[in-house]
Amino acid sequence: MTFHRSIKIAPSILSADFANFGAEIQAIEAQGADWVHVDVMDGHFVPNLTFGPMAVKAFRPHVKTVMDVHLMIAPVDPYIDAYADAGADVLTAHVEAGPHIHRTLQAIRGAGMKAGVALNPGTPAEAVAHLLDLTDLICVMTVNPGFGGQKYIDMTDKVRRLREMIGDREIHIEIDGGMDPTTAPGMVQAGADVLVAGSAVFRGGSVSQPGAYGENMRAIRDAVEAIQ
Ligand code: DX5
Ligand code: ZN
Repeated sequence: MTFHRSIKIAPSILSADFANFGAEIQAIEAQGADWVHVDVMDGHFVPNLTFGPMAVKAFRPHVKTVMDVHLMIAPVDPYIDAYADAGADVLTAHVEAGPHIHRTLQAIRGAGMKAGVALNPGTPAEAVAHLLDLTDLICVMTVNPGFGGQKYIDMTDKVRRLREMIGDREIHIEIDGGMDPTTAPGMVQAGADVLVAGSAVFRGGSVSQPGAYGENMRAIRDAVEAIQ
């Protein structure tokens, strides 16, 4: 995985057909997804439950791009090796998930993955000030984590501040929650390069009608390119 600041669309399979993950992943990639975003929820850190490392391992052979695994779980550390074994390329943990995020990021890199750190809407940019040299991706939540299809919460100032703090380090800024053609351009302008989108990619499509996924992703890309 080489670093590039180009705009990447990462559909969240939280909005996919849960009985058909393999075909859904193939469909979004065939329609132009840059990364595949996998939302892991534990019913404890967030009030919803999705899938664990065994399911993520089963997704792996279908993902030809980048498997971007977003852990909304606490604790994180006991599961890092399981997600490395499942084949995550990027493993992201929340700064709010425990007292030892510094150690967690070291362990993620130590297990051979890119290390991501996520910030809830209520957490300031400064929470990652001492983590920048351990981090490959900062995920800025623009909804409170736990569910797809929620209303976008504006985090423009936070993204701008993070881009300044990052300087010339090779760190992606990912935006997660409520991304669509109206909300994505402002985030890119502020400094984001990875756009997670669940409902805005999967709406109106299915594995037998995958063209809608492509149109939905193109609408986001066109909106972003229009302001550049
Ligand atoms: C929220 C998840 C997101 C979510 C995005 O907890 O981390 O990845 O699926 O979904 P939309 O794009 O529908 O807001
Ligand atoms: Zn996510």
